[in-house]
Amino acid sequence: MIKIAPSVLSADFVNMEKSIRLIESAGCEFIHLDLMDGRFVPPITFGHHMVKAIRGITDLILDAHLMIEEPQNQINFLAEAGADYITVHWENTVHTHRIIQQIQNKGLKAGISIIPSTPVSAIVEILNFVDLVLVMTVNPGFGGQKLIPECIDKIRLLDKIRQDKGYRYLISADGGINQQTVKLFRETGLDIAVAGSAFFGSEDPVNEVLLLSGRI
Ligand code: DX5
Ligand code: ZN
Repeated sequence: MIKIAPSVLSADFVNMEKSIRLIESAGCEFIHLDLMDGRFVPPITFGHHMVKAIRGITDLILDAHLMIEEPQNQINFLAEAGADYITVHWENTVHTHRIIQQIQNKGLKAGISIIPSTPVSAIVEILNFVDLVLVMTVNPGFGGQKLIPECIDKIRLLDKIRQDKGYRYLISADGGINQQTVKLFRETGLDIAVAGSAFFGSEDPVNEVLLLSGRI
């Protein structure tokens, strides 16, 4: 069964606590936090202060998705803020193995993410070391975009590599996931589907999670 990780990018920033309680009441385990810096992607969202504030009010697993330049500078801040997972992009980390180590040495789980134009082959050498692979199914930066279905084959390939090599990473998909598109991920090996607008835009987010995860 696919786990749903709501992204607070589409939450009500004035009522963040209410948004977090909604995620809790929907029975989710993960909260997806999109950090954007206006450089790697055009928008700016929030940094470790917001992560710390959210950590202060919930025990759910916090996955910080770093869409920022020089992500290595944020690891200590985010570890102190209480993030559980830090996911960095392959596209802007030259010393990918080092930053994965840096995250894990802090006692956190480390994820690697790829944008739609990056193939799985780019990250093959790091797969043995990561705890999570985040496959972007839209171009990063904005919520509410249309899913690029060609990206889904990457999840099948990542699942095959995981089985063949006995690796341990979770596979997550991010962008354009809703009640219709989530069906495309069945039987692909996907563990976690990130949902921003589908969750917070729903009239009944609790029921939405049941529908998205395939429980009803
Ligand atoms: C986009 C972010 C996503 C975003 C997904 O760059 O990484 O996490 O919140 O939003 P939806 O689910 O609306 O496509
Ligand atoms: Zn994200």
